[in-house]
Amino acid sequence: MPISPEKKMDLLVSLCKRRGFIYPGSEIYGGFANSWDYGPYGAQLKKNIKDAWWNRFVIGRDDMVGIETPIIMHPKVWEASGHVATFSDPLVDCKKCKHRFRADHLMEVNQGMLGRCPLCTGELTDIKNFNLLFKTSIGVTEDTSHIAYLRPETAGGMFVAWKNVRDSARKRLPFGIAQVGKAFRNEITPGNFIFRTREFDQMEIEYFVRPEDSARAFEEWLIAMKAWVKNILKLQDANVVYHEIADVDRAFYSTRTIDVEYTYPFGTKELYGLANRSDYDLSRHAEASDMDLRYVDSANGEKILPHIIEPTWGLDRTVLAVLSEHLDIDEVDTAEGEGTEPRMVLRLPPLLAPVKVAILPLQKKEELVSIAKKISASCREKGLAVEYDESGSIGKRYRRQDEVGTPWCVTVDFDSVTDGACTVRSRDSMEQVRMDVGEIAGWVEEKIKMN
Ligand code: GAP
Repeated sequence: MPISPEKKMDLLVSLCKRRGFIYPGSEIYGGFANSWDYGPYGAQLKKNIKDAWWNRFVIGRDDMVGIETPIIMHPKVWEASGHVATFSDPLVDCKKCKHRFRADHLMEVNQGMLGRCPLCTGELTDIKNFNLLFKTSIGVTEDTSHIAYLRPETAGGMFVAWKNVRDSARKRLPFGIAQVGKAFRNEITPGNFIFRTREFDQMEIEYFVRPEDSARAFEEWLIAMKAWVKNILKLQDANVVYHEIADVDRAFYSTRTIDVEYTYPFGTKELYGLANRSDYDLSRHAEASDMDLRYVDSANGEKILPHIIEPTWGLDRTVLAVLSEHLDIDEVDTAEGEGTEPRMVLRLPPLLAPVKVAILPLQKKEELVSIAKKISASCREKGLAVEYDESGSIGKRYRRQDEVGTPWCVTVDFDSVTDGACTVRSRDSMEQVRMDVGEIAGWVEEKIKMN
């Protein structure tokens, strides 16, 4: 059933809070703008996405290695990268209502003109550039000589570790370094739930290539990103835009950039990015550190400063896109068999679903509970996330699992005691099949592999 975009956002935010995916941050202190807590289901969904990404792009490939670098690095890293000097947003304030806006966002909706305040039509101030780097100080006193920054992207860690990875990982060009972790930006404009926050997780790859191979590697990464979006996240083609960034709008060092955009309930906005960063990063860090960062070809001794293709994925924006894409409402028969009623269901891909299977004894009777616990244990042994739930009507328990995206519910009833089988109900089709108790864990495992 189609849900209007305005309604969808409200439904999503309230479902996330009610069921324990995402809550407002610091809520008992009145909340804290742009900060969110991931609850039990949200944290597991996020972890499943992260694991799927790592398995696919690091463990699943011979030309990749994964690393982990610190959030607080030498401040020179961000001077060399250009972030200290130029990582800023152009901002304007309304002189009347005092609201603050991104000048580039206002100009986007006003055909290049700044205009007046969109909230109260008041006059706007001149544009000021506001640096997004989060500063902190190292040591016991807040001495300016000890200023450091929280990383604004995980990429910096990979450029800086390149020399050590090059020397230790025994990889030949082309190869890539991957990292997943927190990044911090002092964002001051409203966030649209978890779309824009001050701290967020990135999953990034820096892929090092010979300069002449960079255009081909870019195409290959574009295909890999498209396959991730379609086959793992299962986002419909109609909701995803691959936006080729025009020459005038690209960073000066980038020879090609594509923004992967998704149609969220609040509009079509950036989900991921793919950039050909040329040799910009390695040459800046080589110059600033006075180190030779070239790659030496072991076959002929040739020295090359690699070019870098950077596919980058925002993890929180992935969570939001996945939740938004798969939230659905359909009509189902009422439990009493009189007419129909709406059912809210998260049709999450099984690989990503926080709970893979719910085990529900029809009643809290010892003979049913013991079978249900046996099935739960066999699923857990296979590493499947199980939810055991024995209270409330079976209809209510199904609805709860539908709302958190559990692909299968297993009901243990009185026949199970005699025939050793139970009912497996599928979330999407609501079809029910009888299956032997001993087969369930393996069946669920196989289904998840097929995703
Ligand atoms: N290393 C390249 C880089 O950081 P970016 O486009 O600035 O590029 C990459 O960020 C991704 O990080 C974005 O595509 C988006 O998914 C995510 N991202 C950026 N800023 C964010 C924010 N304030 N909140 C949540 N996610 C953000």
